Amino acid sequence: MGIQLGMPSIGSPPSAAGSGCATGSTADDAAGSHAGASDANGSAAAAGVRAADGLLDRYGRRATDMRLSLTDKCNLRCTYCMPAEGLDWLAKDKVLSGAEIVRLVRIGVDELGVRELRLTGGEPLVRADLVDIVAGIRSNHPDLPISMTTNGLGLDKKAQALKDAGLTRINVSLDSLHPDTFAQLTRRPFLPRVLAGVEEAARVGLGLIKINAVLMRGINDVESPDLLEWAVSHGFELRFIEQMPLDADHGWTRDGMISAAEIRGWLERDFILTPDPRQRDGAPAERWEVRRRSAPDVVAGIVGIIASVTEPFCADCRRTRITAEGKVRSCLFSHEETDLLELLRTPGSGDAAVAARWQDAMWGKPKAHGMDHTGLGDADYVQPDRTMSAIGG
Ligand code: 5AD
Ligand code: SF4
Repeated sequence: MGIQLGMPSIGSPPSAAGSGCATGSTADDAAGSHAGASDANGSAAAAGVRAADGLLDRYGRRATDMRLSLTDKCNLRCTYCMPAEGLDWLAKDKVLSGAEIVRLVRIGVDELGVRELRLTGGEPLVRADLVDIVAGIRSNHPDLPISMTTNGLGLDKKAQALKDAGLTRINVSLDSLHPDTFAQLTRRPFLPRVLAGVEEAARVGLGLIKINAVLMRGINDVESPDLLEWAVSHGFELRFIEQMPLDADHGWTRDGMISAAEIRGWLERDFILTPDPRQRDGAPAERWEVRRRSAPDVVAGIVGIIASVTEPFCADCRRTRITAEGKVRSCLFSHEETDLLELLRTPGSGDAAVAARWQDAMWGKPKAHGMDHTGLGDADYVQPDRTMSAIGG
């Protein structure tokens, strides 16, 4: 674990200086006594965590990477994420407003040590106020890296405005370059529109473009070297993500899942992969320098492989997630959520109260994969009720 802190011991006496102290009586302090993850694990303040300690958990990890879902809606139906018929979308008033989003990011950055922001969904581009949200965040935080994960639909029309509003970078989810396979995986025939979006993002200079691909056995697995050739020849960084058990249809099996080792094996038929000398530094992707076998002296690009299942990186996790309805999920696989929206909408409740509740939620972050040990294939792993789209990827 990369974090060395003066760790408060669990159950140590509350710090008098803690703005989230559960024993106080102001509106700000009331946050310590809410229901949620903290009940099982004690509140952060009661364990001696001060506001300045940020989003610290019981295992000494500190979250500095904020993932904020802007909507649960999506215009694709990827089989590993959504059911064909979609989900029951949230009513508009249950979703964080633009102003609430800007405020939450400000609390994260100014009060809790957030250093990096990723906007996710669902599909963030379905929000009509997306550009205004990015601009609002950027005006408060001139230096914050703000990236967005998108499926690329509509990006051709919004890339320039997003760049101008201050978006730093994008990740585009793209699992196949074949129209039929794309349609089979996403249940929509929109490959040309996604490619147009990627092209426009590259044209306007929207940072280093990363492409996320999930491989499904017998569907797009054979395409992995072609996807890599396409990515490196366009200057994009491709990242393969092991399929996680977060699909609505509960069809995931450990044996059906394509592992990082298998992916490396396929890529190595056409490419030479050598570990990227740059530090991984808490990032989940294991990165490899890519050389074509036909031109072994030239580094053609970088590929990342995110082995969430076979080589979990939970011990280094720096993420804190907020769902579109304003709930903290301390882990992708959590079974607990802590509501911040109600507090944001309570007149008179200040930023410190929100920060304290957020700290409590993170204090209860499980050690790994929503459990206190790793093992997505284990018998005691229980899949969360929410799919990836509803959590925020
Ligand atoms: N396993 C792995 N990755 C997933 N994604 C969505 N669902 C899953 C899953 N079950 C990916 C999407 C997107 C990113 C946010 O997460 O492809 O790129
Ligand atoms: Fe939409 Fe992304 Fe889920 Fe696909 S993986 S359905 S693009 S949210």
